[in-house]
Amino acid sequence: MRIALIGPTGVLGRALAPLLLQKGYTVRALARSAAKARATLPQALEIVECDLLATNADALAPLLQGCDVVAHIATAIPRDFTAPNAWEANTRLRTDGVRTLLDAARQAKVGRYLQQSITMAYPDHGDEWITEDMPLDATPRRGQVTNPVITMEQMIRDTPPDTLQWCILRGANFVGPDTAQAQTLEALRQGNQVVPCDGRNFVSLIHVADIAAAFVAAIENAPAGSIFNITAEPLRHGEYLDALADSIGVPRPKRDESVPCPPSWRCSAQAAKTKLRWQPTHPLVP
Ligand SMILES: NC(=O)c1ccc[n+]([C@@H]2O[C@H](COP(=O)([O-])OP(=O)(O)OC[C@H]3O[C@@H](n4cnc5c(N)ncnc54)[C@H](OP(=O)(O)O)[C@@H]3O)[C@@H](O)[C@H]2O)c1
Repeated sequence: MRIALIGPTGVLGRALAPLLLQKGYTVRALARSAAKARATLPQALEIVECDLLATNADALAPLLQGCDVVAHIATAIPRDFTAPNAWEANTRLRTDGVRTLLDAARQAKVGRYLQQSITMAYPDHGDEWITEDMPLDATPRRGQVTNPVITMEQMIRDTPPDTLQWCILRGANFVGPDTAQAQTLEALRQGNQVVPCDGRNFVSLIHVADIAAAFVAAIENAPAGSIFNITAEPLRHGEYLDALADSIGVPRPKRDESVPCPPSWRCSAQAAKTKLRWQPTHPLVP
């Protein structure tokens, strides 16, 4: 089986591509830079140069020819969230990029379409468990992040699953090598990390190796037209940061009630465990 991977050079791609090869799949990596892909990814990959924002469905379809599955894991999260037009490329990848890829996948008669999405698009639910049937956050407060995700998911949901077997994986915040967790550990070492508010909000986290495994499970087991939260057991934010501090032997961070309380995301991955037959196995704290 041949899998086309859009965004193979990122944090998730670098975990997923070797895992797919190890499982015996052929992987066609569609990367913005073939040179970067060759330098960072296993040699056994087929590498095709493709910028999802500089192509169209007619040009892309031949690149997907012969693939059984296409997985869109590309993203362009800005370094500086407040810079002018900071979110533009990311928004386009989630809207124009997805539209192009869906059209190209249908033209190329790809059977299965996997879309990486985010659990951070849910509204704050306090201590309540969040399941996939709950609506995403359509309020303007976090609209720059959530609106493109809502549009993206709607485009996919509007695709009849008998024309393309789609599955959306809503990933929790990644931890593990090369993720934002490294910056949090560094801030803890420097004594610069605080626990915002009272630390009682829930964080949903997933080790990058576990979300890569969820993609493999989705390729093998996802029902057509399905959506799954992919997360480990949620933790209270304060408990997570305390555990991280303990793991490197530095003082636990102070609670700072002057910092606004972040949204609380206590996401359930029960559906993925049951239907994808997937389990997270990597610890959240190194
Ligand atoms: N990081 C998290 O905590 C987190 C949590 C939940 C879900 N997610 C989602 O998981 C997915 C993967 O995240 P990640 O952390 O692995 O992202 P990442 O490390 O930032 O990698 C992004 C990938 O997208 C590629 N890309 C960017 N613009 C592109 C374009 N115009 N055309 C084609 N490819 C393009 C990048 O290529 P270059 O190497 O050329 O830049 C790179 O391969 C994303 O959908 C993200 O929204 C992430």
